[in-house]
Amino acid sequence: MRRVVTILASAIGIAFLIGLGAFLYMKTEMHGFSARAEPSRTEAMLATYARETAMPDSAKARRNPIRFTPEVQHEAMAHFADHCAVCHANNGSGQTMFGQGMYPKPPDLRMTRTQNLSDGEIFYIIENGIRMSGMPAFGGEATDTADDTWKLVLLIRHLPQLTASEEQQMDALNPKTPSEAEEDKEEEQFLNGGATNTKSSPMHK
Ligand code: HEC
Repeated sequence: MRRVVTILASAIGIAFLIGLGAFLYMKTEMHGFSARAEPSRTEAMLATYARETAMPDSAKARRNPIRFTPEVQHEAMAHFADHCAVCHANNGSGQTMFGQGMYPKPPDLRMTRTQNLSDGEIFYIIENGIRMSGMPAFGGEATDTADDTWKLVLLIRHLPQLTASEEQQMDALNPKTPSEAEEDKEEEQFLNGGATNTKSSPMHK
C-alpha cells in the first residue's frame, strides 16, 4: 500500500514539474501563443537544423535545368505575384499583412539566409513546403509542377536585382478582390478622362 502511495505521489510530482516547466517556457521563451512574436534564437536554430537534416542530400544537389530568359522571367513573375506575394510580397521582402502576422514570419528572400541555399534546396522547399510554418507545399502529386518550380527558383535568385518597373508589372498581376478591381477600373476611367459613372453621362440618355 505504501509503495502505491509513493509511486502515485512521485507521478503527481513529476507531472507538476513538467507542467511548471512548460508554463515557464511558454511565458519566457515562446511569448504565449501570439504569432506576432519572433521565434527565439534557440527555436530558429533547432528548426533550421531539423529542416537541413530532413532534406535528402540528393535533393540539395539538384541543378536547375531551366535557363533564365525574358519569357521564363515573365512567367515566373506572374506565378509569384499570384501564388506567393500574398505572404512574401512581390519584391520578396515578406512585408505583407499576412507575412507579418505569421509565426515564423517569411524571411526576406533577397537576403543571404535564402540566397545561400542551393537551387535544389529552394526547389525542395517550394515543392514540399515547410512543416509547422505557414509555407505551403506547391508540388502536386497528380500534376508535374517541376518546370514551374524551377522557374520560381530562377526568379528568387533574381529578386535582389528586381527593378522598380518589374515590381510594378507584378503589382498588376496580384490577385484582386472584387472591390479592388472596381476601384482600379474607376481609376483607369478617371485617368482616361472618362466619366466614372456612365449611367449619368449625357451620352447614354
Ligand atoms: C501562406 C503564406 C505563404 C505563401 C503563400 C508562400 N510562402 Fe514561402 N514561406 C512562408 C513562410 C512563413 C516561410 C518561413 C518558414 C520558416 O521560417 O520555417 C516561407 C519560406 C519560404 C522559403 C524558404 C526561405 C528561407 O530562407 O528559409 C522559400 C524559398 C519560399 N518560402 C518560397 C515561396 C514561393 C516560391 C511561394 C509561392 C509559390 C511561397 N513561398 C508561398 C509563407 C508562405
